Amino acid sequence: MFGCCECSCLPAIRYYGVGQPQGQPLQTPYSLLSGVGGMLGASLFRIFLGGIHNYSQIHALDFSEGMLNYAHKKNVKYYASNVNIISEDVLKNQLPSNHFDVLVCSFGLKTFNNEQLHILAKEVKRILKPNGRFSFIEISQPANTLLNALYGFYIGNLIPILGKLLLGNPEQYKMLWTYTKKFKNAQKAQKIFEEKGLESNYQSYFFGCATGFTGIKSAG
Ligand SMILES: C[S@@+](CC[C@H](N)C(=O)[O-])C[C@H]1O[C@@H](n2cnc3c(N)ncnc32)[C@H](O)[C@@H]1O
Repeated sequence: MFGCCECSCLPAIRYYGVGQPQGQPLQTPYSLLSGVGGMLGASLFRIFLGGIHNYSQIHALDFSEGMLNYAHKKNVKYYASNVNIISEDVLKNQLPSNHFDVLVCSFGLKTFNNEQLHILAKEVKRILKPNGRFSFIEISQPANTLLNALYGFYIGNLIPILGKLLLGNPEQYKMLWTYTKKFKNAQKAQKIFEEKGLESNYQSYFFGCATGFTGIKSAG
């Protein structure tokens, strides 16, 4: 959907079981909405599902100019421009209703406040087809004090240095741990989704260093 990257898209697909919309055979026209960075994950998604390759359409959405530019380059280089890149704010989007079979999003939740999470849940419910599936994953604070301290040091100190060394720009990583501490975990977001009538299962990974939820928009 938005804020989705290669490394997290795949676990989301594998572990959340969002691969096949319930009740649909694989050779069905298939629509997946992911983040712009998630195009590789989206391709792996196709590979894992084999037969749907020629029948599926991948859409990737973001509103960041930098991220979109990166996505356009990647789309040309690796995906023969087959990914439909959408430049929109997911909270004010013009996407069609009841359209997508699967929606995946990684690392896109943590900066949203309560009101935005409510809007997001409403939009997810609107744009998914009945029986369509969704999956969210986000970096989180582990409950264990020692792990939390080590993880906080890694995310808050080492990642910005690695960002500077490898990408030449630590700025975008500097706030990561601050946002993560505020976010804590995906429980609140999941509750908001459930309040909107989107059933889901909560998941915790790597002792709580990442949390998320996966669910379905019921046909009823
Ligand atoms: C933390 S980044 C994650 C990027 C990518 N997943 C990665 O790991 O490199 C979150 C992404 O969500 C996008 N995003 C945040 N709010 C958004 C919104 N309201 N609509 C669309 N995209 C949004 C940001 O532009 C950003 O690209």
